[in-house]
Amino acid sequence: MLEAPRHPSLPTSFPRYDAPPLIETRKPRCPPYVQVSSVDQLMPYLDVVARRPYNQGLHACWDLKRGERVQLRVDNWHDPMVVEACKRILEKYGCPYEIMFVDKGAIPQWKGSDEVEYYLYRTKELAQWMDQWDVMSKEGKFDKLLWGYGGPVLVDTHMKIQRMPFITPEILASPAFLMPYEMLEAIDLWTWNRVRTAKRVRITDPEGTDVEYTNHAGYYDRNREFYNSDLVHDTWTGNEGFGRTYLPGHVLGKPWIFLPGKEDGNGVIAGTTNHIAPVDWTQLVVENSKITEINAGGLFGEKLRKLKAETDHLQYPGFPGKGLFYWWEASIGTNPHIHRPRKDFPSGWINCLYERVRSGVIHIGFGTIISSMNERRAAKAGLPVGHWHLHLYFPTVKLEREGDDELIIKDGRLLALDDPQIRKMADKHGGADLWLKESWIPAIPGLNVKGDYWNHYASDPMKWVKAELDICRDFHHLFMPMVGGDPTACHDTHGLWGGGPGAFAVAEGKAPQPVAPHVHNADGSCCGH
Ligand SMILES: [Fe+2]
Repeated sequence: MLEAPRHPSLPTSFPRYDAPPLIETRKPRCPPYVQVSSVDQLMPYLDVVARRPYNQGLHACWDLKRGERVQLRVDNWHDPMVVEACKRILEKYGCPYEIMFVDKGAIPQWKGSDEVEYYLYRTKELAQWMDQWDVMSKEGKFDKLLWGYGGPVLVDTHMKIQRMPFITPEILASPAFLMPYEMLEAIDLWTWNRVRTAKRVRITDPEGTDVEYTNHAGYYDRNREFYNSDLVHDTWTGNEGFGRTYLPGHVLGKPWIFLPGKEDGNGVIAGTTNHIAPVDWTQLVVENSKITEINAGGLFGEKLRKLKAETDHLQYPGFPGKGLFYWWEASIGTNPHIHRPRKDFPSGWINCLYERVRSGVIHIGFGTIISSMNERRAAKAGLPVGHWHLHLYFPTVKLEREGDDELIIKDGRLLALDDPQIRKMADKHGGADLWLKESWIPAIPGLNVKGDYWNHYASDPMKWVKAELDICRDFHHLFMPMVGGDPTACHDTHGLWGGGPGAFAVAEGKAPQPVAPHVHNADGSCCGH
């Protein structure tokens, strides 16, 4: 790798490799592309979700109870077939429900640089949602809300909130939502227990990230079990129970609180994707947890630099120093079966937000801390609020611990998936290979596909990704050989995708059985049936 570029708008250097470094070890994978033609095919997934125990995290865990009054919030960016399936499951579980349907207007087609305005606008929208939440919670009309797949997480003493990440049949009809909850919980805890007890954390990634921070004792309570209650109270006033620990499905690789005077996140962060879409290669230079330089990034970089210049002199509540651009997030996804949707990507809700929760993917966040009281205070004081992201798909995370350093992620593989106890647990449910092997690994020229990282990918990542997804969707049987990928994931060996027999078996509490082997068909219908 060459040294960091110092020019504000053009990269003078970027990762360059003689040969793609992950071409043998992290071959691309994509799951089968199955056409879902009826609501029935979606029901087993919702059946599993309906029975998962409630928590405030990002795993869909609806825990539906008979008689529970539910409001489901959807809009015209959701596929009607998915909404219909949700209605049916609420009826099946005996929940009186109301659907709140919002017309959000035409579905936008995204460019990665749209993230800058999107989160400036959305953070205001979230602040309004939070106010609505307080009113609804007092009214007591509902026991549970099913709403959104990121965003606000609020006090749930009177009314619970759970996620609605199901936008299209392609997203819902996936083993990600058949995963037994005890396994998801074990993976989350394996990861969190290591992070919270580490002294230092170093994150590297072949797209150009090399950043580290001290995991100061001051962030935690005496036993390093929860975050420091004073810091939590300051940042998450009124929602301390939420702010003091990790979020299921979104393990905090960096504390989402600041320790003023001690913030020492230093290094570089680089990537080609944010929550919205692929973006031109973007590099952030971090000094004492502050982003001091934003290099390259095309239009995304340009907009970020402008916003940084407009906010660098402002003091935000709870921030260690002046400016909006502080690095506070390096969150780790934990579900091995999340994949990037191919149909209609990137548009509306079908963007890169969903894929951030695949096991081992890290999303870096900078700006105000989402849905924290300090963000609300800043918004009320009239300061521009929001936070922005870069995703790391092949990170390596090294923890420095008392005497025994440990990797928890290696080249994008969350090592919880190789833990003997977790693998043993998977055996009860049909096998570790079935549940603990990622369904999706993106194909990136110059990293895990032949080609030059810069010339064939990073100078215009959207161009590659769109071509990749089109081929993967329309010519699925050809895609894996074309990119030198690992074809095993695209063989739906147990009928877990698209409402296959394995999905129904899991919903009935049985381990899925192998389905008859199939041959690839030239019409693209492989892997589904
Ligand atoms: Fe996050």
